[in-house]
Amino acid sequence: MALAYVLLLAIIALGVPLAVSLSARVKAEVRSQARGQADLVAATAEDLLAPAFRRRLQTVVETAARSVRGRILVLDAGGRVLVDSAGPAQLGASYEARPEIESALGGQPVQVQRASRTLGQEILATAVPIVHNGRPVGAVRVTQSVSAVNDAVHRALLGLGGIGAVVLALGLAAGALIAAQVARPMRRLERVARRVADGDLEARAEVEGSSEQRSLGASFNDMTARIERLIHAQRDFVADASHQLRTPLTGLRLRLEEAKAVDDPAAAAAEINAGIAELDRLAHTVEELLLLSRAGERQLQGEAVELDEVAASALDRWRPMAENRGITLAHEHNGTEATAWCARADLERALDTLIENGVHYAPADTTVTIATAPGVIEVRDRGPGIAPEERELVFERFHRGRTGRTGPSGSGLGLAIARELAREWNGEVTLEERGGGGTIARLSLPQALTRPKSIR
Ligand SMILES: Nc1ncnc2c1ncn2[C@@H]1O[C@H](COP(=O)(O)OP(=O)(O)O)[C@@H](O)[C@H]1O
Ligand SMILES: [Mg+2]
Repeated sequence: MALAYVLLLAIIALGVPLAVSLSARVKAEVRSQARGQADLVAATAEDLLAPAFRRRLQTVVETAARSVRGRILVLDAGGRVLVDSAGPAQLGASYEARPEIESALGGQPVQVQRASRTLGQEILATAVPIVHNGRPVGAVRVTQSVSAVNDAVHRALLGLGGIGAVVLALGLAAGALIAAQVARPMRRLERVARRVADGDLEARAEVEGSSEQRSLGASFNDMTARIERLIHAQRDFVADASHQLRTPLTGLRLRLEEAKAVDDPAAAAAEINAGIAELDRLAHTVEELLLLSRAGERQLQGEAVELDEVAASALDRWRPMAENRGITLAHEHNGTEATAWCARADLERALDTLIENGVHYAPADTTVTIATAPGVIEVRDRGPGIAPEERELVFERFHRGRTGRTGPSGSGLGLAIARELAREWNGEVTLEERGGGGTIARLSLPQALTRPKSIR
């Protein structure tokens, strides 16, 4: 609808001045044509005024009259009609009293619009003198009905209006076509959005239409795919977690039932102690689950962290536990300043899970080395290593590898947590085979662009 108004306005804005100038042009054209024919007849008549040439003059006048669609008179110096294109009826009549004839016989050409008493309508009268040797010897008068002129103007305006109407119709048709083309993809996208809102997360929009619409469709699909992934991940997570929590809970229940059933207080105490250990494991797993589920939501501040300092304090934390298992902890740094950009708490938590694995899975009397380089901390052990086909699987939640299942108890969440926390800072955790046996667990992070506070 708005388009129709705009088009109409444009057509009026262009058409009105055009119509005005067109009607002025048509009128001017009619006037100048009348004047031209009058001059032509006057020039011809100068040589044909003698009665002998009357017939020739009549022919000339009739031809000229047809071309101006009017009436042409040739008058002598006294204002009497010599030749009339309309016929012989007025021959000899005196037109001296007509104002234009008076002026022409006085040597002055004129063009006037006036009411004709004989015809009872508006006429355009053009009169020019016939000049011989510098003196007016007669006059030529051209008369045209003004309504004929107006008819010509109307015809021109009607043509213009017709063109305007055609342009309007074409414009509206083109507008309707474009609107339909724009609306169709949007309507389809809306339908898909409604399906997604109703829970169909597999619905995808058609990527079609203009480049903006295509980009909108693609973004919509990316968004839906991401939501689908997140919801599936969440569902799996809840399923995994419930399953993992059920096992220790069942164990706990068995212990308690056993404690209730036995008569011997010492046996009951042993069952209860085992139950408490089971409870501790459960609490630990729950804590890890909470950490994992919240990893993406916390708003921790990043900072420039000095990796050697982090390594040294981790070594202090783990030394008692490592010595208990007969394992030596070592710190290796390659001399260059090693920094990373992350939250120190996240880095320490991730590093702890890697050191815990090294200390757990390596045999006694070996060394676990923590090595630093810019943006990298590695934990290297001399344990059994991880089979290549397991190296990615062990990062999945609750996945315990071959070494895990046969070795010390664990939740299978350690590496998942380490990787989640590292990725939060655009970092990564990877596992590699160590030359000479064992595993290298590598934690890499973006390097800090500023220097850590501790060295500044
Ligand atoms: N340093 C390592 N040496 C050998 N195997 C390892 C090592 N680190 C991790 N693994 C394997 O990866 C699995 C997953 O590790 P993790 O996610 O920390 O869970 P958990 O230690 O509780 O089993 C372990 O069960 C183990 O099989
Ligand atoms: Mg572990």
